[in-house]
Amino acid sequence: MTSKIKMIVDCDPGHDDAMAIVVAARHADLLGVTTVAGNAPLSSTTRNARIVLDLIGSELPVHSGANRPLVAPPHDASHVHGKSGLDGADLPEPSRGPDSENAVEFIIETCRATEGVWLVPIGPLTNIALALRAAPDLGSRIAGISLMGGGTFGNVSAAAEFNLWADPEAADIVFRYGGKLMMSGLDVTHQLQSTPERLAAIRAIPGQLPNVLADLLAFYSKSYINHHLNMTGAAVHDPCAVLSLTHPQLFTISPHRVDIELRGEHTRGMTMIDRRQYKTPTAPNCEVVWNVDASPAFDVLIEAISHFA
Ligand code: BDR
Ligand code: CA
Repeated sequence: MTSKIKMIVDCDPGHDDAMAIVVAARHADLLGVTTVAGNAPLSSTTRNARIVLDLIGSELPVHSGANRPLVAPPHDASHVHGKSGLDGADLPEPSRGPDSENAVEFIIETCRATEGVWLVPIGPLTNIALALRAAPDLGSRIAGISLMGGGTFGNVSAAAEFNLWADPEAADIVFRYGGKLMMSGLDVTHQLQSTPERLAAIRAIPGQLPNVLADLLAFYSKSYINHHLNMTGAAVHDPCAVLSLTHPQLFTISPHRVDIELRGEHTRGMTMIDRRQYKTPTAPNCEVVWNVDASPAFDVLIEAISHFA
């Protein structure tokens, strides 16, 4: 039996973050969850992370972290996730508050104490950048960083995706940290959609967790269906950062040089991916995840929900 990948999920739940937590708890050795301000203010993302863990019966700790980006002014994504960050379902009260308010310390201590941890940031990269800056040894201790963010197009602007746009200076630190880096950007995450058939499959599973997740995904899908041509459900972005580690056979991935645009008037927060076909390419710093076999990947999500139902 191969051992499970150890990971810390750093998140801002967020409808798709909730799905990522569920699948990480099912298929990885999840060591803890850290939270960051992003889709909603920090108090809401922390509360939401606890609720999701409670719904799957997990006692894993939730440590809250940065309540704002390093430099950029704070912006949430309430236009997509609602005011609470998890609008659309009747959620239970969380069983407890955060286990600490020091996510950065938790990340550093856990990665120093345990060999080969993957950091899986699926919100703005503030906590991860602060950890790398405070503990430069972390870069060579962790197995790597698998993040959701970036891509060849944006969703906040034509060029920039929300997680990297929300804290570009933090993203710049992460993309230059020098260790293994995997990026699941919008190119791949828009392929993993919560279509009506998939939503119905979740709703058909008896229990509180599937019911809540189906309500959440139905709410989340509305804004995607309303705003996009050719989308029949929301892009379930964040699980891609987990699944590309736990189920790499479902993805196509290639190494590239990726830099974060910090100054462009129209491009701040953009991932500049070097795709030139040179015989001597620029040294890659990032494994870019391009495509997913969406049906089997979504089946993994459905099975994870059934498992905890
Ligand atoms: C990313 O932004 C958030 O709204 C989602 O949770 C995801 O992490 C997609 O751009
Ligand atoms: Ca997120």
